[in-house]
Amino acid sequence: MEPTPPWTALADRLFASAEAFLHRSRQEQDPVVQVRPPRALMESWGLPELLREPEGIGLERVEQLVEDYWQASTRVHDPRFVSHQVAVPHPISALGDFAHGLTNNGHATYEMGPQAVAVEFAVVDWMLEKIGWSNGSGLLVHGGSIANLSCLLAARATAFPDAWEQGVPAGAQLFVPSTCHYSVARCAGILGIGTDAVVAVPADARGVMIPSELDAALAAARAADAPILAVVANACATATGLYDPLRAVGEICQRHGVWLHVDGCHGASVLISEKWRHLVDGIELADSVCWDAHKMLGASALCAGVLFRAPDAVYRSFRQDGNYLAGTEAEELPFLRSIECTRSGLGLRAFLVLAWHGEARLAADLDRMHANARFLEQLLRAAEDFEVPLAPESNILLFRPRPRGQELSDAQIEAIRRSLMDAGSFYLTAANFAGRKWLRVTLMNPATTEQHLQRMTEEVRSQALEIGAAGD
Ligand SMILES: Cc1ncc(COP(=O)(O)O)c(C=O)c1O
Repeated sequence: MEPTPPWTALADRLFASAEAFLHRSRQEQDPVVQVRPPRALMESWGLPELLREPEGIGLERVEQLVEDYWQASTRVHDPRFVSHQVAVPHPISALGDFAHGLTNNGHATYEMGPQAVAVEFAVVDWMLEKIGWSNGSGLLVHGGSIANLSCLLAARATAFPDAWEQGVPAGAQLFVPSTCHYSVARCAGILGIGTDAVVAVPADARGVMIPSELDAALAAARAADAPILAVVANACATATGLYDPLRAVGEICQRHGVWLHVDGCHGASVLISEKWRHLVDGIELADSVCWDAHKMLGASALCAGVLFRAPDAVYRSFRQDGNYLAGTEAEELPFLRSIECTRSGLGLRAFLVLAWHGEARLAADLDRMHANARFLEQLLRAAEDFEVPLAPESNILLFRPRPRGQELSDAQIEAIRRSLMDAGSFYLTAANFAGRKWLRVTLMNPATTEQHLQRMTEEVRSQALEIGAAGD
């Protein structure tokens, strides 16, 4: 019998240690987050030396390194993880990462990784079906930022067919919500219209786009013969978690003949929930949608859907050299559709979670995350020493403590957040809204309970009292 190759022995041990790591995380046995300067961590582990070990470091030290890696990581499986918009991935999704890493089939062409393309097609078709596009097209890319760019490239090719060769016409405009993700403004820079051409459509006090204002802005642009690249709408906004009114926005865009791109990176996943689907009512009126499975669908990062209503739109983004097509179906040449040449087998991450759990379980998880945001809102509103600026629509909530009615500075709000992180007790983010900084939770973990949220509230309250008193 062949001796067991060392990497499989290592893999056996690492799977056992991964299980222990997940258990510790779920049981809240470690700090949920530990912030250490990356260079200090690099030095303390001796990473530069390990990299330069001429004979390699061998099994024991690799195992130790992976153990150290688990230990230093932010525990997304810990129910006290309430910060960033990444999924709490099911381990089955990580097995998708493993299967890709081992096969390493880059599949810029179908023949290089037929299985990866087949899985991608299945996931994309499922996403298109959820939107209600029976004849759409799409692909998967490495993240929402590239997804936004991919969609707006197709919008540019549609609005300005000569842009590839001649650049964009002077004065081209991109209409966006003022609360859109920063990757959208970056797209304007990358696409060559320039960030000055990004027009924030007037919004209501919640930062949600006002359809009549969009209508007026598009009418004015058309009357002035100003070139329009596209309109972007949020589903939902990163900082606030609020949705733009997609049906009204979609009807206006169709009336003006303007491409509508819906940034559904975070919130398009409500499409699987009977309860919350109404938040994206009208999404099918869009020309393009992006949808991250690595945010609300339990998939490990990255797996972002780039989805188009039109069957050929996925081929519009790039000018293709006709030679590539000789004798080969376009469907068999993924690189014709994507910015990237080599890609990971992105589909497996989402496919395995969906197939393993079934849609109903994922919808139940999503409903729980949304219910948690409402529970926390009520808890904080019932207390006199908290301020909640917005009724949540998704699993994102902003709030501010007001210890003894005191208005804290933005720096004090940040200090509260830091103190929780330093204690490793809860991990929250912060966001600016209406000119002030707010604590922000994104309730990504279905294992987070009402008791956790009560504990978090108590901790924020006690830190606010201390930090507020110190600042008096
Ligand atoms: C609305 C929205 N769009 C785009 C992105 C970017 O996605 P990614 O981090 O996958 O690049 C985010 C990330 O939080 C987002 O919330």
